[in-house]
Amino acid sequence: MPKTKTVYVCNSCGTISPKWQGRCPDCGEWNTYVETADAPKVIGASTSALPAQAQQLTAVSTDGLARYPISLGEMSRVLGGGVVPGSLVLIGGDPGVGKSTLLLQVASLMCATLPSVLYVSGEESIHQIRLRASRLGPIPESLWVLSETSIGAIADHIQRSSPGLVIVDSIQTMYSEQVESAAGSVSQVRDCTMALMRLAKGSGVPIFLVGHVTKEGAIAGPRVLEHIVDTVLYLEGDRFHQFRLLRAAKNRYGSTNEVGVFEMTQEGLEEVPNPSEAFLSERPEDTVGSCVGVLMEGSRPLLVEVQALTSYSGSGLARRTGNGLDYNRLLLLTAVLGKRVGVALGDQDIYVNVVGGLRLEEPAADLAVAVAIASSASGRAVRPETVHIGEVGLSGELRSVPHLERRLAESAKLGYTRAVCSRTARKQQAPAGLQLVQAATLAEAIGHSLEAPQQARRITG
Ligand SMILES: Nc1ncnc2c1ncn2[C@@H]1O[C@H](COP(=O)(O)OP(=O)(O)OP(=O)(O)O)[C@@H](O)[C@H]1O
Ligand SMILES: [Mg+2]
Repeated sequence: MPKTKTVYVCNSCGTISPKWQGRCPDCGEWNTYVETADAPKVIGASTSALPAQAQQLTAVSTDGLARYPISLGEMSRVLGGGVVPGSLVLIGGDPGVGKSTLLLQVASLMCATLPSVLYVSGEESIHQIRLRASRLGPIPESLWVLSETSIGAIADHIQRSSPGLVIVDSIQTMYSEQVESAAGSVSQVRDCTMALMRLAKGSGVPIFLVGHVTKEGAIAGPRVLEHIVDTVLYLEGDRFHQFRLLRAAKNRYGSTNEVGVFEMTQEGLEEVPNPSEAFLSERPEDTVGSCVGVLMEGSRPLLVEVQALTSYSGSGLARRTGNGLDYNRLLLLTAVLGKRVGVALGDQDIYVNVVGGLRLEEPAADLAVAVAIASSASGRAVRPETVHIGEVGLSGELRSVPHLERRLAESAKLGYTRAVCSRTARKQQAPAGLQLVQAATLAEAIGHSLEAPQQARRITG
């Protein structure tokens, strides 16, 4: 038996040290060293006494790399086309966003292709799981549940019953007898994940792990957790809105560009086949302060409604509130509107909301935000059937954005007939039926976007 010794591991970068250190010499982070009972085992390290043998890469078989299809198309796409045997997939997300629901659905659906699926829960009783499953639809006979938190007992069970797929909900509730600290601690989470990794690679059983996220939105536990697993997915969305986005942050078996869109319903997460249509479904026509922009969510264009409301502040300090966009970006656009376009916003409170719980991460949505604010401030409605695509620069110039062609094609598909974009856009990029309106500056774009003052109809802002 090798002797157990105490080592210290950096929580941030995984550096191992024989003694505790206040600051990690590798990553420079403070107070990240935690005590662990044993030196972490290196995954894949040979334990045999035989000398290591390299293989010609061409001689390595590709058998077993076939994927198991999931009949939940949005999930399958995000994974890169199905579940790879022996892969370890981590799914993170805010509390209550629907992680357990999604994985229970995946478990049920996978029973159609695999001989059996094991759902291990350390958080909920099997009765709670049963209640949720009854809500989600018919329960297959080959779906097994286990309420257990000991990783050793789970590993034993998996080895004995050899299920086709395992789901562990959640990694923070699991504990390993080999580590002294409490479940959920950094060393426990790391050790349990490593144990599951060895199990997945050794047996070829794919394992899905649920991971809690911290207040900042990162998966709780050591940063190395994301390095250990093959795929990291995030289920995003606001609990108070029905839409959920599933994104890949890392994928060893596929692109990280894909995004799955779901809707939370009584029967669980339902795929949204046409997200743009869903996000715009409640958009009021010709309303002041409402503007449509086109985002790229991964490789897929998505039309989104941006709403703005400006109102006289009364107090000396005007408020700027953005829901679904970066606060600093909102300040920047407000400043450009004031200084370069001449929209007087100094004494106006500004509220901007992105409909459906979506977040505008891309500068390509700048134009839609700026036009929505200008529309509310002037009381002029945005012209109907018009989409807005463009980044706004500090000099008030309108800049080009990537994937314009795909954004325009999606707009045309949804019946939009005008697209306001930068001067660099080429006519041939626009599909038939979509008029390209080019503008060099934000001021020019606003001129093309808003109705003439006498035509303003319903005023809400
Ligand atoms: N009867 C119901 N009808 C519709 N939606 C429901 C119902 N019950 C639960 N939900 C939805 O499911 C969500 C909870 O889902 P779930 O338990 O899968 O989340 P989770 O991400 O696993 O949460 P946790 O982090 O607490 O484990 C709720 O926020 C709610 O939106
Ligand atoms: Mg859960």
